Amino acid sequence: MRSTAGPQVLPHLPIDREARAPLYQQIYEGYRRAILAGLLRPGQRVPSTRALAAELGVSRLPVLAAYEQLLHEGYLDGRRGSGTYVNADLIGERKRRRVVVPLAPRDEGGLHPFRVSAPALDQFPRAAWARIVARHAHAMPAELMGYGDPAGYVPLREQIAEYLRTARAVRCEASQVLVVSSSLAALRIASAALIAPGTSVAVEEPGYPGARTALEAAGANLAHIPVDEEGIDSGALGDLGISAPSAAYVTPSHQYPLGVSMTASRRVALLAWAERTGSWILEDDYDSEYRYVSRPLGALQGMDAHERVIYIGTFSKVLFPALRIGYVVVPPRLWEAFIRAREALDIFSPTLYQLALTDFLAEGRFARHIRRMRDVYRRRRDALLAGLEQHGRGLLTVHNSDAGLHVPVWLPEGVADTAVITSLEQRGLTATPLSTCYGGTETRSGLLLGFGGADERTLDRATRILANVVAQHAG
Ligand SMILES: Cc1ncc(COP(=O)(O)O)c(C=O)c1O
Repeated sequence: MRSTAGPQVLPHLPIDREARAPLYQQIYEGYRRAILAGLLRPGQRVPSTRALAAELGVSRLPVLAAYEQLLHEGYLDGRRGSGTYVNADLIGERKRRRVVVPLAPRDEGGLHPFRVSAPALDQFPRAAWARIVARHAHAMPAELMGYGDPAGYVPLREQIAEYLRTARAVRCEASQVLVVSSSLAALRIASAALIAPGTSVAVEEPGYPGARTALEAAGANLAHIPVDEEGIDSGALGDLGISAPSAAYVTPSHQYPLGVSMTASRRVALLAWAERTGSWILEDDYDSEYRYVSRPLGALQGMDAHERVIYIGTFSKVLFPALRIGYVVVPPRLWEAFIRAREALDIFSPTLYQLALTDFLAEGRFARHIRRMRDVYRRRRDALLAGLEQHGRGLLTVHNSDAGLHVPVWLPEGVADTAVITSLEQRGLTATPLSTCYGGTETRSGLLLGFGGADERTLDRATRILANVVAQHAG
């Protein structure tokens, strides 16, 4: 692909005015070496002779002479009026031998049915968002273009605190809200602040693999605590024989992956365990805005009288993952440790998006978006459930579909979820194998089917394909 017109980045040419070699020869040699070494690639545009002469602080004559030689020898290629390029046909031995790693996009955010982490990107109010972002890109004052506050942009922290108090019953002040780039960044910060390498951290079994990876990277020894229809078995925490458990990572509103919400008695038991053992609870409230059978449950943090809960949230599901903005509500006594850990990670989150998000919240657009999305997701969920009922009866058993943006389903006895996933991928479909959510020795075979990122018709079609695939594996 040819680089576009316009001013080109000046190549690095080691020119030495004191050297005996004439300037034109140095420029010629510099280009030749850069091209042969693959620093300048076939098809890449090079600067005009005028621009290069000005940059090097030499007259145009030696530059013209060098370019002429390079054109003559076929290193460069140029037509009057359309610029000069590294010859696109220059395929020497070097190039043929080079191992090219294609920079293919990973397609992480594509609109695939069943993709678990995909919200309804087709429904996102782009025009309003674009206006807000453009407004701030134009008007951002100079003082906001420097390094930002590691805690986050204060008006955004205020907006988040108000939202969490109101919608999630989180007990917090803006001064406790730490803006971070994602839930996983939040976990990394919390680990750095709280978890000494080698200490035990309880995680849900099955649970969120991303959290396991983040906690293990921090040196935690994971204790896998089973989840049943009431959520994590808080009673099992005491039976572990862990002398000094440091923390438990939980998803009480909508357990990932099984979808249950933790009952009140389990919540009380979990909080009592934390208080008794001096442990911290890492509450990941990643998609609690969407609940289809009753009002969304309040956060566990709101029930905590002893400030043992670190509450983690993200805009990845309610807005879009590429925004990379999340937040942590930090107990006041831990604030300093969290700020130090946050500074050590990446200092602060991009200010432009924090400014835009502040307005998106303050103008009521966020609340409106969530309200609208509840209906959209309910319809998509219903379409998925109807498709599973119609095409997959007897093959796919829904475990829980009360909330969130995905449905866990069990596969028939003996059918490996990883094999089903491979067959689905061959048909252009992506889902998450449930077995990958287990960290212990025993796993169960099932699928997590996201329904947020595709419309009803697509979901119906995809469900029919899924049922055929599973039938083949079961037969
Ligand atoms: C349980 C859970 N927590 C957190 C996240 C990711 O959030 P973020 O994009 O903020 O890292 C996900 C994404 O799928 C998730 O399933």
